[in-house]
Amino acid sequence: AGEQLRYDGQTVVVTGAGAGLGKAYALFYASRGANVVVNDLGGTFNGQGAGGNSAADKVVQEIKAAGGKAVANYDDVANGENIINTAIKNFGRIDVLINNAGILRDVSFKNMKDADWDIIMKVHVFGAYKCARAAWPHFKKQKYGRVINTASAAGLFGSFGQCNYSAAKLGLVGFTETLAKEGLKYNILCNVIAPIAASRLTATVMPPEVLEKLKPEWVVPLVGVLTHSSNDSETGSIFEVGGGHVAKLRWERAKGALLRADDTFTPSALLQKWNNVSDFSEPEHPSGVADFLGLLEAAQKLPANPKAENIDYNGKVALVT
Ligand code: NAI
Repeated sequence: AGEQLRYDGQTVVVTGAGAGLGKAYALFYASRGANVVVNDLGGTFNGQGAGGNSAADKVVQEIKAAGGKAVANYDDVANGENIINTAIKNFGRIDVLINNAGILRDVSFKNMKDADWDIIMKVHVFGAYKCARAAWPHFKKQKYGRVINTASAAGLFGSFGQCNYSAAKLGLVGFTETLAKEGLKYNILCNVIAPIAASRLTATVMPPEVLEKLKPEWVVPLVGVLTHSSNDSETGSIFEVGGGHVAKLRWERAKGALLRADDTFTPSALLQKWNNVSDFSEPEHPSGVADFLGLLEAAQKLPANPKAENIDYNGKVALVT
């Protein structure tokens, strides 16, 4: 008890580490012995241009002043191979990748422009893909890798004015789930977090007294645990984290309806079983598609589906069994 989780000898790449959550991760890993690549292109919160090198440089200086090891990288995450090369050139390896860089382009759906859509996909989804893609061969070769991707409550639940961001963020959940499956046999573990923390991205949407309780530092412990070598099994998981709260999320599958799949399988036959479709009283928590071959076989043993009688389309469906 009381022992520190440490990362001595490991190299950690943190994208968007010039501010907010990324900066908190970078300082943490450096303070626990890791070599850190501090990536940040130093742009504005909405991705308007590259603001220069000072954001990443300041964090590197802070790490070095505290006796840590870090180098800056100023590439856009869309050029992920340059970021990973910075790790290889300076430290000879990469062990942990934190895909964290992000921007916002909030606009109501009816006013969304293609440019607002594209840049959000580019930074969040394409950027995470490019960095992970460049790190992957190194992870595979050394049979070790830990990846964190950054989703958002906006992606999991939807959020007014953020359809581009929501789509990108839930995209990262699917991306993580697949990388977890492909990485497993090489000891590459990938998880995705939906953080909440005070930063320039939340400064305009939350009152100061709430922001005070949402320090980026309080997202760090979860990321530290998931990316440590002592984690040998947690992968493909989704976590909500912020303000001292950490919780795992998962998919839930309802009991479901099973109908004989023949020409009696009509929309009204389905409506008669609609309650089963959404019956969550005995849920499953799947990590893959339903056993559809088994279900298919069971469905063939059912009698023909009954014809609909009193279906009430105006209110709730009146069940006819
Ligand atoms: P932040 O704006 O403080 O930090 C993001 C950093 O990423 C900035 O320093 C920015 O220069 C950098 N960056 C942006 N685009 C980049 C690019 N193309 N290449 C390299 N660097 C780039 O924001 P915050 O809040 O720390 O966000 C970090 C991540 O967490 C983002 O992915 C964000 O979407 C996500 N997130 C944050 C939440 C929060 O409550 N703060 C909520 C949900 C998700």
